[in-house]
Amino acid sequence: MMLDLFWKVGRGPLFMMDAEKAHRLTMGTMRSFGGLCGFGLGMMSTPPPPSLRTEIAGLTLASPIGLAAGLDKDGEAISIWPKLGFGFIEMGTVTAHPQKGNEQPRLFRLKSEQGLINRMGFNNHGSQALAEVMKQLRESDRWPNIPVGANIGKSKITPLEEAPEDYCMSIRRLRDFADYFTVNVSSPNTPGLRDLQSADKLQILLEKVKKESKDLPVFVKFAPDMHETDLVAAIECVIEQGCDGIIATNTTNTRPGTTDRLQQTGGLSGNPLWPLAKSQVMKILDVCAQRIPVIGVGGVDSTEKARKLLNMGCKAVQLYTGLIFRGPGLISQINKQLPHQIDK
Ligand code: FNR
Repeated sequence: MMLDLFWKVGRGPLFMMDAEKAHRLTMGTMRSFGGLCGFGLGMMSTPPPPSLRTEIAGLTLASPIGLAAGLDKDGEAISIWPKLGFGFIEMGTVTAHPQKGNEQPRLFRLKSEQGLINRMGFNNHGSQALAEVMKQLRESDRWPNIPVGANIGKSKITPLEEAPEDYCMSIRRLRDFADYFTVNVSSPNTPGLRDLQSADKLQILLEKVKKESKDLPVFVKFAPDMHETDLVAAIECVIEQGCDGIIATNTTNTRPGTTDRLQQTGGLSGNPLWPLAKSQVMKILDVCAQRIPVIGVGGVDSTEKARKLLNMGCKAVQLYTGLIFRGPGLISQINKQLPHQIDK
């Protein structure tokens, strides 16, 4: 309730700003006033009920609702996200080399459709910087008591043939600190990245990644735009290589369900992505046939949608864009309503 009120007041001015400026302002506030924000949010939100505790790949999630990658690439607010009620959080995408990403503007709101288009291009401080942030938190008493994942991508300057070593370098830096890894081969804004979803390239990549990640769970994140034969081959490869889960989906470079008023290139997320993401997740669940857990993501902005993915067979759900449009009270609200709505 308090969080909803807070969002009703704060949302107007934030939505009048350029989308990336609003994001930077919010993240900067969370970073600078971390303790205060955490305390305030802790007072205003409710922790997930114990009935929502979920096991996946040996990890215990406080709730099946997690923060998707991209919102906190550099781990600026690791200790704050759990206060919103998330059961697990994913940092990154980080790359082996720090990079600025694409030219601005590169993030656009589709207000009436409740979607975002982004072509950020993996702007991040690099995996070494994230490792240092995580190390400091681990050594202090501020490391969350929920799993914190590191989502890894390929640096733009690294040729595709050298991608496995680029991913492995990030994994070596982060493996003493992160709780799990996500191999991102599906962001649409790094040229060539999605080619790594093809089974032959994926096999070489995952074999190396699995070796470097030691005993930590490895999830692989797919695009909603993969065609069925490629998708089936890629899933079989993920299972063969002994990975621990599939995250689906990333943003789409198609434009389903939008008026497409904004002629911007980039990945579409949020409400317009929902039908496509849901049907891709359905296909993936079908091919996986419970051999490997699936985490559903794409357009979740309500309890009904989270419940739908969980009832379809997803072990957990992630969201990003829903948080931007519905505000920070969304997670507590889903956590409160969900126990009554999952088919057990
Ligand atoms: C993303 N997403 C994303 N995914 C990823 O694996 N690595 C990343 O760096 C990013 N970056 C990113 C930036 C922005 C601005 C957005 C909106 C999204 C994709 C995200 O994690 C998620 O898969 C999709 O956005 C679909 O979920 P939502 O946003 O519809 O809940």
